[in-house]
Amino acid sequence: MRVKIVASEQVMGCEAAKIVQDEVARNPKAVLMLPTGGTPEAMYEHLARAYSQGRVTFARVTTFNLDEYVGLSVEHPQSYHCYMQDRFFCHVDLPPINAHLLDGNAANLAKECRDFEQKIAEAGGVDLAVLGLGRNAHIAFNEPPANLTSRTHVAMLTESTRQANARFFGGTGDVPCRALTAGIATIIDCRKILVLACGIQKAEAVARAIERPVSAMCPASALQVHHKVTFLVDEAAASCLHFKSNYRYLEQARRSLEVGR
Ligand code: GLP
Repeated sequence: MRVKIVASEQVMGCEAAKIVQDEVARNPKAVLMLPTGGTPEAMYEHLARAYSQGRVTFARVTTFNLDEYVGLSVEHPQSYHCYMQDRFFCHVDLPPINAHLLDGNAANLAKECRDFEQKIAEAGGVDLAVLGLGRNAHIAFNEPPANLTSRTHVAMLTESTRQANARFFGGTGDVPCRALTAGIATIIDCRKILVLACGIQKAEAVARAIERPVSAMCPASALQVHHKVTFLVDEAAASCLHFKSNYRYLEQARRSLEVGR
């Protein structure tokens, strides 16, 4: 596991965008799994700018989104469909047919989840997944206690997650109680994983995910078993890590190796 600590949320967004751009430059047909929420907004801004300046194209990229609320229409301003349209899709050249989001209004939610897994398989799997992190260490909408072997499924949201997301709605009461989400096993199957976290309210979750034992009570801790995962966190989100100086040392060593190459 690689842990990279950066000065601020803006730097995190810029570095995350660079990682996505590098992936797409290496493989123009890259398959990406994308997050929503407040954390990745800066990343999407940087990606939109990079596209407008001709530094990246998404013309052959395929995307999947990690999750969607149940019961919101795709036009609902707080749906993740709308979020992706506003923050990313409308700014870049990704063909709409290549963007896959779960439909939280599907008549048959179980089938919607199965079809999503099928589409990922048909795309050849995911090259890079970018994840946010919940305050309770959820990833996508895999809430604690999480089934660490789950595939895409319907999830019940915890009260704390609904409260955390109430800022995007009128209040907690307006936040849906259920969501469709990629499962932990769906995420672990992605070839590379980048986790983003910023702000002091994520510090405890970051430390539990990275430095505490793998546990259903900490869904993000499941990422410890993945061989290519990077946590990209700002100083505030890193503040509960015990081995901060080790991570900094390893990053420095990595950089000097890259420079020496
Ligand atoms: C939400 C989303 C997650 C997101 C997380 C963090 O509930 N379902 O995919 O990563 O919580 O959100 P934020 O970045 O707004 O803190």
